Amino acid sequence: MDVPLFATSLQPYHDRLSEAIDRVARSGRYILGPEVEAFEREFADYLGVRHCVGVANGTDALTIALRALGVGPGDEVVMPSFTFYATAEAAVVMGARPVFCDVDPGTFCVTPETVKAAVTPRTKAIVPVHLFGNVAPVEELRELGVPVLEDAAQAAGAERNGVKAGAMGEAATFSFFPSKNLPCLGDGGAVVTSDDAVAERARVLRFHGSRDKATFTDVGYNSRLDEVQAAALRVLLPELDGWIERRRAAARAYERLGLGEHATLPREVDGSRHAYHLYVVRADSLPVGRGYYRVPVHRQPAIAADVDLPGTEEAARTNFALPMGIDLTEAEVRGVIEACASGST
Ligand SMILES: Cc1ncc(COP(=O)(O)O)c(C=O)c1O
Repeated sequence: MDVPLFATSLQPYHDRLSEAIDRVARSGRYILGPEVEAFEREFADYLGVRHCVGVANGTDALTIALRALGVGPGDEVVMPSFTFYATAEAAVVMGARPVFCDVDPGTFCVTPETVKAAVTPRTKAIVPVHLFGNVAPVEELRELGVPVLEDAAQAAGAERNGVKAGAMGEAATFSFFPSKNLPCLGDGGAVVTSDDAVAERARVLRFHGSRDKATFTDVGYNSRLDEVQAAALRVLLPELDGWIERRRAAARAYERLGLGEHATLPREVDGSRHAYHLYVVRADSLPVGRGYYRVPVHRQPAIAADVDLPGTEEAARTNFALPMGIDLTEAEVRGVIEACASGST
C-alpha cells in the first residue's frame, strides 16, 4: 500500500490560490504590501496575540526573535537537541550558545525538569520546541523567570489549556514551509508576540535594521514574507482549525484500529491539544515509517556538544513517523497498521 508520509493535497484550494496570486501579480505590490499587513493582522487575531511580523522562513524567524528578545553573542539559550537542526543553527548564527536539554521520549518535548537542569545565570532565553505538533509545557517554563521563545514551526493550530501554541511565551516563531500545518507556496515564516517592543525590534531587524529605509540603527536581515505567500496564507488560514480536526481524527483512527499493538503511540503533553503535524510512534524496529532526527543536533558535526541526553537518544533511536495529513482515509490507516503488523510495506 502506497500511502505518502504527508497525506495532504491543496488541490481543492488551487482555484482560490490562483486567484490570490493573480490579484498580487496585477497589484504591482510585491514586498511588504497590503497582503502581508492583512495576514499579519489575521494570524495575530487567530492566535490571540498582539503582533505578527512576517519573515522569510522559520529559521530567520528564530534568529530575529532571539535578537528581538535581547539575546546577544555569548548568551546561553536552552533548547532541546531532539529537533530540526534549524532551532540550534538560528542561535549559533547570531553568536548565542545553544545549551541542550533533554526531552521526554514519550512526548518528544522538553519538560520543566529537563529545562531547569540546563538553566544557568548566563541563560538569556529558553526555546521549547512544540515537536511534531505536541505542545511543550510553556506555562511551567515561564515560572523559571527566563524569556521563553516557542519554536512553533510544527505546531500551527495546536493548543494547551485553551491557549494557542504561539501565544504562551514572550514570543514564538512559525514556519510556513509547504509541508507544515499551515503551508504557503514556498518559504515563509513569522515572529509573533504580545510585547510591543519585541515586535518593533523584529520589524526593524527583518528590514536591514531600519524603521524608515533611510536610517539604519541595527545590522539586520533582508527577511520578509512576500505578498504572494501572504495572499496564499490568507486563503488557507481559515481552513486550519478544520484541518487540525482531520489530523486528530486520523490519530484517533490509528489508536482505535489497533496500532498500539505494534508500537508505542504518541502521548500528548498534559493539557495539550496535539496538532499532529507528524504522527510519530516508537518501536525498536518497524517495517514502515521514517525515523526523524536519528542524529540529534548535539551530535551533528557542526555542533558537537559534549552532553549526556538519554531521553533524546531514546527518542532518536526509536521514533517512526507514519502517514498523516488532512486526506488520510480510514482505509489507509488500516493499511498502515496491517503493514506494521505483517512486516510488509
Ligand atoms: C522545529 C523547527 N524549527 C525551525 C524550522 C525552520 O523553518 P524553515 O524551514 O521555514 O526555515 C523547522 C522547519 O523545517 C522546524 O521543523
